[in-house]
Amino acid sequence: MSTRSESPHERMQDSDGPGGRPAPDEAPKESGEGKQTAGLLHEAMRNKRILGIAIVAAIGGFLFGYDTGVIGGALLFIQKDLNLDKSQQQLAVSAILLGAIVGAIGAGWLADHFSRRRTKILAGCVYVIGAIACAVAQSYWELVAARFWLGLAVGTASFVAPMYIAELVPPRIRGGVVSFNQLMVTIGILLAYISDWAFAGVSNNWRWMFAVAAIPGAALAIGMFFMPYSPRWLVEQGRDDEAREVLSRLRSDEDDIDGEIAEIKDVTKQQASLGDLLKKAVRPMLIVGIGLAIFQQIVGINTVIYYSPTILKFAGQQNTGALTQSLFIGATNVVFTIVAIMLLDKLGRRFFLLFGTSCCFVALIGLGVFFHFPGVQSSANWLALACLLFYIFGFAIGLGPVFWLMISEIFPLNIRGPAMAVCTVFNWAFNFAIAYTFLTLVGAITKAGAFWLYAFFCLCALAFFWTMVPETKDRSLEEIEQELGASPQEAEREAEVARA
Ligand code: BGC
Repeated sequence: MSTRSESPHERMQDSDGPGGRPAPDEAPKESGEGKQTAGLLHEAMRNKRILGIAIVAAIGGFLFGYDTGVIGGALLFIQKDLNLDKSQQQLAVSAILLGAIVGAIGAGWLADHFSRRRTKILAGCVYVIGAIACAVAQSYWELVAARFWLGLAVGTASFVAPMYIAELVPPRIRGGVVSFNQLMVTIGILLAYISDWAFAGVSNNWRWMFAVAAIPGAALAIGMFFMPYSPRWLVEQGRDDEAREVLSRLRSDEDDIDGEIAEIKDVTKQQASLGDLLKKAVRPMLIVGIGLAIFQQIVGINTVIYYSPTILKFAGQQNTGALTQSLFIGATNVVFTIVAIMLLDKLGRRFFLLFGTSCCFVALIGLGVFFHFPGVQSSANWLALACLLFYIFGFAIGLGPVFWLMISEIFPLNIRGPAMAVCTVFNWAFNFAIAYTFLTLVGAITKAGAFWLYAFFCLCALAFFWTMVPETKDRSLEEIEQELGASPQEAEREAEVARA
């Protein structure tokens, strides 16, 4: 896992770098997240090749969202067809996450050895086979195996897709890729809910819900076939001429291609390994990254994403009502992710983390109250949906985009790749832990108990964000690390000693 991608802060670090980028203490006003995402879209409109990359990028994030989200509605029907008990339902939901952990662990190695491009073609093929295998599964174990297989592609693509795109687009819009990817994940989830709703009345409904994901999977594999190798990968292979050729097709006059190649070489030389993450200087940032990864999951987001139709059925809805109401949840997620991306640079990451997670806390308390008091259920049966919507609003403007953004901002350049990989694996692992235990938890401590437990985790998250997480908006890497009590210079020195 020695691969890496870049973020807005690289521009701040490489103050004398090519392309006249800003010095570390210059506030990168023009390079904000929202502007960068808009910049990515603007660039895509201007340059057809960048448009191709953005579309392929979109498919990667989209499939992540679709394949994880589709189980929500499908579960209502699979459970009956295959006669699944609670623990079987949980594994049917979460097997994909086990696959994703394995996929994310192997992704860096594959991307380095076989290239990002070939890894993504492979992921596209795995997606297609997985979608079809889920659709034709005849038994519970066939379904679990197919979902695990699909997870391999989800984990691989969720890691390699943003990396590949960040390496291909011009440095000045690179930061926007992270948020663009998160937006596509939420759109994938929404479309999964739409497909759950649309196929609900058809025979073999859940099979169709899974099967349609083969189309974007095939589009990814075929699309990637026509995409170039990443210039960074080419340089790492000593194929500088090809890298220059790729860059000349993707850059405009204002970009300094030779400077970019020199920068890639520089970064490659300084690359740290996984072992360097254990060094003292890196520890404070790693604690923040891993803490964010874990809290993003244990506040219970994916019980809502994967089980919202089930929760709405608990609240008294029929299948159709539950699937229709889930559409509102999916749409709220998309809309407020867009709002967050646009405002993250104005109000800061910490504001959204604290405000968003406080909303999640209130919503979870409300859900607990709803399920705890039968009187509330009968007199205010709209409350469950209202709380779910408020919860998803809080997550979409907070932990959803901010976790992915921050792990691309807090680490020094030479350890960013392995550090982000470790955070991603933690994120998938805790995603699995929560998704795999939800129904058991409901059985053990009641529905209200489960939601209140997630609310308690929200409180812990708030305390962690308040005390440990630095603001990264408009700040240089050096400033961030000073606040964390870590020294990037020391981190680099330690890594150099280890390499020597
Ligand atoms: C999380 C996913 C979650 C999604 C919901 C992402 O940031 O990593 O686990 O399903 O947000 O929008």
